[in-house]
Amino acid sequence: MLTHIPATQTVIEISKPGGPEVLVPATRPVPEPKPGEVLVRIAASGVNQADTLQRSGRYPVPPGMPDILGLECSGMVVKRGDGVTQWREGDEACALMVGNGYGEYACVPAAQCLPVPTGVSLIDAAGLPETFCTVWTNVFERMHLQPGETFLAQGGSSGIGITAIQLAKAFGSQVLATAGSDVKCQACREFGADVAINYRTQDFVAVGKEFTGARGVDAILDMVGGDYIPREFDLLAHEGRLCFVALMRGTKVEADFGAIHCKHLTVTGSTLHGRNVAEKAAIITALREKVWPLWDQGKLRTSTYRRFPMREAADAHRLMESSEHIGKILLLP
Ligand SMILES: NC(=O)c1ccc[n+]([C@@H]2O[C@H](COP(=O)([O-])OP(=O)(O)OC[C@H]3O[C@@H](n4cnc5c(N)ncnc54)[C@H](OP(=O)(O)O)[C@@H]3O)[C@@H](O)[C@H]2O)c1
Repeated sequence: MLTHIPATQTVIEISKPGGPEVLVPATRPVPEPKPGEVLVRIAASGVNQADTLQRSGRYPVPPGMPDILGLECSGMVVKRGDGVTQWREGDEACALMVGNGYGEYACVPAAQCLPVPTGVSLIDAAGLPETFCTVWTNVFERMHLQPGETFLAQGGSSGIGITAIQLAKAFGSQVLATAGSDVKCQACREFGADVAINYRTQDFVAVGKEFTGARGVDAILDMVGGDYIPREFDLLAHEGRLCFVALMRGTKVEADFGAIHCKHLTVTGSTLHGRNVAEKAAIITALREKVWPLWDQGKLRTSTYRRFPMREAADAHRLMESSEHIGKILLLP
């Protein structure tokens, strides 16, 4: 063992469902890794929108999940459970988690850890697992985005959106993105979007049709839903695909399903959180093989917007809920 492991740690608890102020420090035991797990000394954790929803009691947390927030982290492996051979004490990694990131130590299945990519700091690596896993599985495994196709990322300046823009571009698509301000649109372009659409002043359907010569786009990654859905049916090309990672504007809508029928559309969606370790491990393996080499080639950039001390998690949540941020917000123990 390389390092002293204390018996207890400081975590951020949800004292009761509510606003950011309910996030308070607490003392908890440092857990022991079970077979197949590693204990990570956390360098940083990513804040995700699901955290703010869970904090306020609006996120349907799958049964048996931890009460401590935090779906991703980076840090050093300090202890291995039985059967872990692919990671050693002292290795630096980033990890996809089911919770427990808002602390100093956490146990994670070894199969959900990824190496810190070339050129990325240990701290910035904390912001990678959730968005890269989500974008990979939805855009490339569910929608099968192909080189040369046209792709629209709704919410282009979010952590998810920036990753979607970068990966779609790196794999040879033409990329459109929506965002709610000109500053955010500029950021989308800087991360690789060919066209950025300020949805407050422009109609994404009209811009998308103009860009594609009325053909429509091949694939849309959406987190908005609601009244966007019929407009997305309209914008999609023949054989187009639409995938939901969230439905912020609502899950119920009146839409003409004739578009699905006549244009051969595929409408799908998924959640990462509810998947089991084997399913997450398969995504991690795919990322390591197909996406992590892009870091070596200098084709990807991290999107850390701001780092907060972990004890200021409430301020980090306030920033996320203000929607002023572009990219990722991180917490440092
Ligand atoms: N299914 C999954 O497995 C999965 C996994 C991770 C995340 N998610 C979801 O993905 C979404 C993004 O997550 P995140 O952590 O990256 O959150 P985030 O950074 O807070 O992003 C939310 C984004 O939504 C944008 N937005 C809101 N209304 C919009 C609209 N009408 N048109 C375009 N953009 C709009 C906001 O930008 P503006 O200020 O420009 O409106 C903001 O950038 C969240 O809804 C999250 O729950 C799903």
